[in-house]
Amino acid sequence: MARLSRIAAIVVLAAAVLYVPVRRWAAGGVCESQARMDGKTVIITGANTGIGKVTARDMAERGARVILACRSLEKAEEAAKEIRSQTGNKNVVVHKLDLASLTSVRQFAKVINDAEPRLDVLINNAGVMACPRWETEDGFEMQFGVNHLGHFLLTNLLQDKLQQSAPSRVVTVSSLAHVFTSGIDFDDINYENDYSREESYYRSKLANVLFSKELARRLEGTGVTSNSLHPGVIYTELSRHREEHIRGIVGEQLSKVVNKIMRGFAGIFGKTMEEGAQTTICCAVAEEWRNTTGLYFSDCVPKETSAAGKDDEAAARLWDVSERMVGLKS
Ligand SMILES: NC(=O)c1ccc[n+]([C@@H]2O[C@H](COP(=O)([O-])OP(=O)(O)OC[C@H]3O[C@@H](n4cnc5c(N)ncnc54)[C@H](OP(=O)(O)O)[C@@H]3O)[C@@H](O)[C@H]2O)c1
Ligand SMILES: *[C@@H]1O[C@H](CO)[C@@H](O)[C@H](O)[C@H]1NC(C)=O
Repeated sequence: MARLSRIAAIVVLAAAVLYVPVRRWAAGGVCESQARMDGKTVIITGANTGIGKVTARDMAERGARVILACRSLEKAEEAAKEIRSQTGNKNVVVHKLDLASLTSVRQFAKVINDAEPRLDVLINNAGVMACPRWETEDGFEMQFGVNHLGHFLLTNLLQDKLQQSAPSRVVTVSSLAHVFTSGIDFDDINYENDYSREESYYRSKLANVLFSKELARRLEGTGVTSNSLHPGVIYTELSRHREEHIRGIVGEQLSKVVNKIMRGFAGIFGKTMEEGAQTTICCAVAEEWRNTTGLYFSDCVPKETSAAGKDDEAAARLWDVSERMVGLKS
């Protein structure tokens, strides 16, 4: 008994002593930049929730005209209202963008190209993770279709506007998860065989890394930079499909316990949404990275990607395949 309570006391003490350093380590880098964005326009995809919403609020605080590009106008308007009242910036607008529909991407791009005089930062943030093998409106596997192809077409259609507004930036939110795959399967790009919801997510995030790098290469000398990033591990709605899946396997009661444990871990070892948005914000505004392009960031500094993320041949091939899939090339 005495021994047990001594062990318990040591554990509690260790936890108390370690809590602050562990939290500080988990929080990662902070964007120290005070850069203002007055007169600049920023588009953020998937900005109605999660780290996209925090990023949007930060851009609004810096004075930017902020365009929330979301598939649900209702959710987006709610987020915009909140951001306007929190920041006092009235220049926060919403436009419909469903990345699972090429028609929607084209319509969104037309609205922007027709109505917006400039575009300084495009933040490709929206994402879907570990969903069942769903397909987009155009028959692409959902995670590849939304996370990569939708953003690929969007960026291409907004490229002229970005160039006219140079110096400008494209920021693509990838993930450390890109290291878990050995590469894109060009023989089964739509993952029709042996679909794995996790592997599909890894590949789509690797596609973000490769796309961002190839875009940087193509835009060299135009004044438009392109970087990708890992935001950290943050408990957001991103895990919704994984949680549903777990619920299907272990049942309602047990899944609640599992989710609580996962959330607890994320609370200690992960980042808050504010911390999770820092690397995106850094890439979007920091003067320090103004000329930096073709890199992958984590904790607000450039980091190495996996070997597959450095494969320039795969990047070029992915670009070519993507152009055909979205109808930019026949
Ligand atoms: N959270 C993490 O730990 C983590 C780690 C590494 C990377 N990331 C990346 O960070 C980015 C943001 O994730 P998050 O954690 O903030 O997730 P989240 O809370 O689930 O937010 C994702 C956003 O993407 C939107 N979205 C999903 N499908 C869409 C579609 N077809 N068209 C337009 N928008 C769509 C969602 O809209 P609805 O609300 O309408 O569904 C939502 O606004 C993602 O790219 C993710 O891969 C996150
Ligand atoms: C970026 O490039 C411009 C033009 O060459 C230069 O004036 C500026 O100092 C550079 N900024 C940084 C942070 O490297």
